[in-house]
Amino acid sequence: MKTALVTGASSGIGKAIGQALLLEGMTVIGLCRSVEELPEGIAPLPCDLRETEQIKAAFSTLDHLDILVNSAGLAYLSRLSDGDPEQWEEMWRVNVHALGLCSQLALSLFPDAGGHILNLSSMSGHRVPPTGGFYASTKFAVRAISEALRSELKSSGNKTRVSCLSPGFVDTPLLDKYFAGREEKLAETRASIDLLTPEAIAASAVHILTAPEGVEVHDLMIKSADQAM
Ligand SMILES: NC(=O)c1ccc[n+]([C@@H]2O[C@H](COP(=O)([O-])OP(=O)(O)OC[C@H]3O[C@@H](n4cnc5c(N)ncnc54)[C@H](OP(=O)(O)O)[C@@H]3O)[C@@H](O)[C@H]2O)c1
Repeated sequence: MKTALVTGASSGIGKAIGQALLLEGMTVIGLCRSVEELPEGIAPLPCDLRETEQIKAAFSTLDHLDILVNSAGLAYLSRLSDGDPEQWEEMWRVNVHALGLCSQLALSLFPDAGGHILNLSSMSGHRVPPTGGFYASTKFAVRAISEALRSELKSSGNKTRVSCLSPGFVDTPLLDKYFAGREEKLAETRASIDLLTPEAIAASAVHILTAPEGVEVHDLMIKSADQAM
């Protein structure tokens, strides 16, 4: 039975992926702060991903992993010209630094035959939306980290696979934070786009994580058919 660690399993996409992996018969560990929000059957691993020492301490309690899903992340509007640098820092720490550190720590827990890391990037990691601000830079960074790690692993003969998922708008609590103070814009977006569900993203995560041995999906860009770009 495979063991998967899902960061951000208390909400949205991470929660749906955790539940889908349970249905695949895996043991699932959920890393997050709100462990009381974890679905039944997911083992809690409390951790604040802004804190390096907490991340190291959390991973030191584990002895084996087959899969790491880096889903934890947050999006503030945070424009470059007048955004709040403290919000930039929080996004950078959770979306980028913690994702890199969790990946590094997971490598030593994977089997000799290799594990699988799945990172949540975004359509905002492929193009910069007009209101994307600093968030887009963190999602471009997720793709850069994924590509760099893939290349490092291959040059050392490590069979661990590294994949990305890049969704457009998904109906999760993240959108409330991103559109805070612009609720009309969120209502407009909801009216014009049939938003993706977290379950739709989880189905793609299962496709990637159960791909036949030797098959490595690099990145899946997924958006609602209503979303223009
Ligand atoms: N929703 C979208 O439209 C969309 C689109 C493209 C990509 N994405 C990406 O998909 C991923 C998941 O987003 P989502 O929409 O599912 O968001 P969400 O519903 O708001 O969930 C965010 C998750 O991240 C965890 N998290 C945030 N800060 C944390 C911290 N300091 N320490 C530990 N965990 C933390 C939260 O757990 P706790 O609060 O319990 O700690 C929560 O489980 C993110 O990387 C996001 O950038 C989302």
